[in-house]
Amino acid sequence: LSIDEPREFKIQNNNSETESMKRQISLLDFIDKMEQINQFQDKIDISSTISRIWELFLDEIRNFIIIDICALFLVNEHSYEFVLTKSHPRNKKEICKREIENQIECDMFSWIINRRKPAVIHSFVYKDKKSVIMLPLSTVKRTIGVILLMTPISEHLITQENLRLLTMLTKQCALVMENWFLYHNLKKKHEALEKAKDQIIQTEKMASIGRLTAGASHEILNPLNIISGHIQLLSIKQKFNPDAEKSLNIVKLQTDRIKKIIDGLARFSKLPNPGKKMLNMNALVGRYISETKSAKNKKKILMSEDLDSQIPKIWGNEKLLLQVFSFLMSNAEDAVSEKGTVAISTRKETRYPGTELERSYIRIDFTDNGCGIAKENITKAFDPFFTTKRSESKTGLGLSLSYAIIQAHGGDIQVQSPGNKGTVVSIYLPV
Ligand SMILES: Nc1ncnc2c1ncn2[C@@H]1O[C@H](COP(=O)(O)OP(=O)(O)O)[C@@H](O)[C@H]1O
Ligand SMILES: [Mg+2]
Repeated sequence: LSIDEPREFKIQNNNSETESMKRQISLLDFIDKMEQINQFQDKIDISSTISRIWELFLDEIRNFIIIDICALFLVNEHSYEFVLTKSHPRNKKEICKREIENQIECDMFSWIINRRKPAVIHSFVYKDKKSVIMLPLSTVKRTIGVILLMTPISEHLITQENLRLLTMLTKQCALVMENWFLYHNLKKKHEALEKAKDQIIQTEKMASIGRLTAGASHEILNPLNIISGHIQLLSIKQKFNPDAEKSLNIVKLQTDRIKKIIDGLARFSKLPNPGKKMLNMNALVGRYISETKSAKNKKKILMSEDLDSQIPKIWGNEKLLLQVFSFLMSNAEDAVSEKGTVAISTRKETRYPGTELERSYIRIDFTDNGCGIAKENITKAFDPFFTTKRSESKTGLGLSLSYAIIQAHGGDIQVQSPGNKGTVVSIYLPV
């Protein structure tokens, strides 16, 4: 049954007044329903979800036709397949799928998609004179899906008028859904861009620090080596009184501290291309955990693991990644109290889905139940020399070195401290 011909509304010369009245009433009713359909869009705002739009659509469609089953198939952006997204009632998904498969097989499906027109047909699945209405969800540019309706009304009783109203409503629904997709894609792209921008700023900051420190560390290390050489000579050749001895020891200790810092800086700037091989991340994490557990850990931290066995291998430098783990572990150790826990998990994650930046990563989370990081320190945590610790041995280089190592792997590292209840450090390494 095609709707090319609006048969119902051909004005015919009819002398009977009652006939004319009937026609007028039916016309008024039709206009009423059209107005109702026009208001469909007003009920939806940008925060409405696809589920909400679907519910409103169902409410609306019931004003025009009795429905047994109604299903929404949306085109998947990547595979271009029609995917059953919603069904009413919810437990009728299988019937809807079977019906569509049959309609595809007999070419009815491509008929309505190509012509962007609705069709009323016999149901394959739903017997007893029940009919199926297929309504393409099309906008001017594209078809975003199709609506499948199963109704107890038999084919020849579905009027042109009804079909026209259903088509109008479906068009409105298509428009609203298309707007929703456009808005949400834009939002996703915007968020991905914002993240990428932050990452570029951080990378640029680290790169310039790297350039600066590469030169400076070399310049400082030379005189420093001369100083510590002479200190050694002095302590061998001279006999000092206890006070002078004490002072000399302090000088020694502090030069060693400077050396350690400079050494860290030199490593930070010398990282651009570490040698990598294919690594099984779970094996590496497992090894790290068992080694750490067997080593005496000061605070008796309870370590646990949650490793996804399905993750693929990645390219990485074992030594450097183990170094990152121990930087993170040492921070967790500093942050937790006596009943400290650290959980390490691995999983695969697609970041920035639906945008040009979309890519698969292995994500490794270090989650501790320590003191957390204050909101204002989150962005500073990766800065070289940033530390909130008083201890002499803390240089504030752990996270910045970890950052440099992960960057050199083409990855990313982030900290989160939700409500200051512990810290999650997430490492992302590209698959
Ligand atoms: N797991 C954590 N829990 C709480 N604070 C952390 C954690 N990891 C890092 N931080 C904060 O980030 C700062 C920088 O860490 P880092 O670069 O390793 O330097 P350091 O450990 O020498 O202070 C720490 O001083 C601390 O304030
Ligand atoms: Mg540290």
